[in-house]
Amino acid sequence: METQNTNQKTKKTIFSGVQPSGKMTLGNYLGALKNWTKLQDDYNCYYSLVNLHAITVPQDPETLRNNTTELLAQFLACGIDPKKATIFVQSHVKEHLELMWVLNCMTYMGELSRMTQYKDKSKKSAENLNAGLFTYPVLMAADILLYQTDLVPVGDDQKQHMELARDLAMRFNNRYSETFVVPEGYYPENTARVMSLQNPEKKMSKSDDNPNGYILLADTADDTRKKIMRSVTDSLGEIRYSDDQPGLKNLINIYSAVDGRSVEEIVAEFEGKGYGDFKKSLAEVVVEDLRPVREQYDYFMKNRDYLDEIIHQGALKAESVARKTVKDVYEKTGFVTRIK
Ligand code: AMP
Ligand code: TRP
Repeated sequence: METQNTNQKTKKTIFSGVQPSGKMTLGNYLGALKNWTKLQDDYNCYYSLVNLHAITVPQDPETLRNNTTELLAQFLACGIDPKKATIFVQSHVKEHLELMWVLNCMTYMGELSRMTQYKDKSKKSAENLNAGLFTYPVLMAADILLYQTDLVPVGDDQKQHMELARDLAMRFNNRYSETFVVPEGYYPENTARVMSLQNPEKKMSKSDDNPNGYILLADTADDTRKKIMRSVTDSLGEIRYSDDQPGLKNLINIYSAVDGRSVEEIVAEFEGKGYGDFKKSLAEVVVEDLRPVREQYDYFMKNRDYLDEIIHQGALKAESVARKTVKDVYEKTGFVTRIK
């Protein structure tokens, strides 16, 4: 027991979360999940299914429940190992909400109204401009700070939220005393943003109206191929890695992320060839990479008891750490200790 504790302390802590708000895309996989599996040996990792965040936009209850189970199966299918990482459902650990409240009272309205994601989402859901959407980044900061997180692997769309988490950690530490580790964002190169296959100006997202814009981990091999073959490129007809060819640039980034070779090597391989050849090759690489993920996913979805056990154990582990942080925060804040 002693040695395990010391071991955990010498390893740095990682926290990240994904919303169970639909199916996972190739963007989630390359921008998040694939990197998470590489980190679990060297770091003390917490990976959370952030269902509290998901309800900032209206959710059908049954769909939300199913999406959470499916996302868990996808985590495992991508290679996240519950023996190495702590996998848990955010709503199972009530400390997230407790810390959020304290942090809410230290966050300025101005800070939150500057958030680009809030500005975008509030335009989209003008008739449901709920307070949760506004304080979303504070809940995210609570997620991260509860576990004394050193590093947060996220896509670069989360940079502003990470800045807030850092500011809140420093603000609390300055106002009271050293309490939180000040976390840092950990952004993957190249695949920090996988763009839509139909519009390379937009990030690949499952909420895209056009399903040809995204590849789902659950898509069949045939659909995956079709979507890649139909992806938008340009009329220059030359395989180059350039900002003038954003569609192609995105495809090259995907190629590199999936197959592990550098952008330069890939461009060299396809020099002088047509987009058709390139896309065909890319389609095969992607299909082969996703094949085992899809198979594992089907396997886990048939083993619900196992999935339940994983999140039960995950919640116990997460809770024991989160409890300590909240106790410390409550004391420093001046809340009377509950004796009985
Ligand atoms: P979300 O699906 O928006 O909850 O995002 C879950 C994780 O996947 C976060 O770390 C995101 O930054 C990342 N992510 C989502 N979409 C993409 C994308 N198109 N490219 C790269 N990373 C993404
Ligand atoms: N906001 C993140 C996203 O949309 C999800 C998230 C919630 C998260 N809490 C987190 C990511 C804590 C990292 C750490 O992608």
